[in-house]
Amino acid sequence: MNKKLETELKQELDSLGQQSLLWNPRTLNGPSGAKTIIDGKESVMLCSNNYLGLANHRKLKKAAIEAIRKYGAGSGSVRPIAGTMDLHIRLEELIAKFKHTDDSIYYNSGFTANSGALPALLREGDVVISDELNHGSIIDGLRLSKAERMIYRHNDMNDLEAKLKEMTARPQKPNRILIVTDGVFSMDGDIAPLDGIVELAERHDAATYVDDAHGDGVLGENGRGIVSHFKLEGRVDFEMGTFSKAFGTMGGLIATSKTNKQYLLNKSRTWLLTGSHGPATVAASIAAIELLMESDTLVRKLWRNTKYFKKRLKELGFDTGNSQTPITPIMTYDAAKARQMSVRLFDEGVYALPIVFPMVAKDKARIRAMITAEHSKEELDFAILKIEKVGRELGLIK
Ligand SMILES: Cc1ncc(COP(=O)(O)O)c(C=O)c1O
Repeated sequence: MNKKLETELKQELDSLGQQSLLWNPRTLNGPSGAKTIIDGKESVMLCSNNYLGLANHRKLKKAAIEAIRKYGAGSGSVRPIAGTMDLHIRLEELIAKFKHTDDSIYYNSGFTANSGALPALLREGDVVISDELNHGSIIDGLRLSKAERMIYRHNDMNDLEAKLKEMTARPQKPNRILIVTDGVFSMDGDIAPLDGIVELAERHDAATYVDDAHGDGVLGENGRGIVSHFKLEGRVDFEMGTFSKAFGTMGGLIATSKTNKQYLLNKSRTWLLTGSHGPATVAASIAAIELLMESDTLVRKLWRNTKYFKKRLKELGFDTGNSQTPITPIMTYDAAKARQMSVRLFDEGVYALPIVFPMVAKDKARIRAMITAEHSKEELDFAILKIEKVGRELGLIK
């Protein structure tokens, strides 16, 4: 063991601890659900991304068990060598059908989709224009590329247009221009104006890449995502998403054309150089998409719960920000207050996490409550009652 390295790492950890920036995750002692056992205590879950309650759905579990019986526990290889099973192909065909695109590519996670596809698409001489609040996996993907990076102000179409005009007025025009945006922004829950972005992209001959991690299963017809929400089918080049949130499993997806898919699977290092997901995950992911294609009941329930929860918090006088989705900030502004609120809520049987710097600006701390279709009215009412009690204790409401 290298003592010098360990001492330096310890100093850094101590410094993070002093700033209240250390992660000490609590442990689930059962399945992720609307009510579950966390650190041995029954709690109403208000911070999972399991929007539709699919993580513990009987159809997904059945599909996973059957796949293990037929195909085993692992895939045995990376996708390009011997790790592509017919299950992976079926899932990619189904994603394309669900998203109304020609084809799709399945990665091991949303993170590896962004960090593999973006550097593959963007080379020296290209320019990428990225929203300032895009997810860390996009930021890391762009860091791995040799393209010039430009950042536009959050959801600001005037700033995006100015950047596009600046680029096209250059004597040496960029080879490719790619606009990259989150679909739903994960900290605030607001939706990117994708219709405006696509219009600008078409006018300036740019391509578009949207990360729909929080829009999949939430927005659009049967949860098809942001492209369906804005009726932009066929006009977005890369529709990226994840299975780790509303779809209840694990994996990243990019819905796109056949040529784009072939390019990505030949060039993304995060697809080529890592073992593929095992049969259980892939079969459960297929079951999740099939379930959504059959019925929009869960998506509708998610929105009913979301509207009810937000309305009750507003009536109580909480500041819930500008969210347009089930992501519900409860603004405390002060980081210590957000942490205190989370601890007190846990004492009261509600698990909701604080979001503080560097995830948001220093003066924008909050509790982020995530609503799901699985919450019953009783569970939501219980959570609201406790939020009201703790909110009064901390002076957030009168
Ligand atoms: C906007 C966004 N993109 C990508 C990801 C990464 O997805 P995954 O969990 O599949 O790696 C997340 C998850 O936190 C996210 O919120």
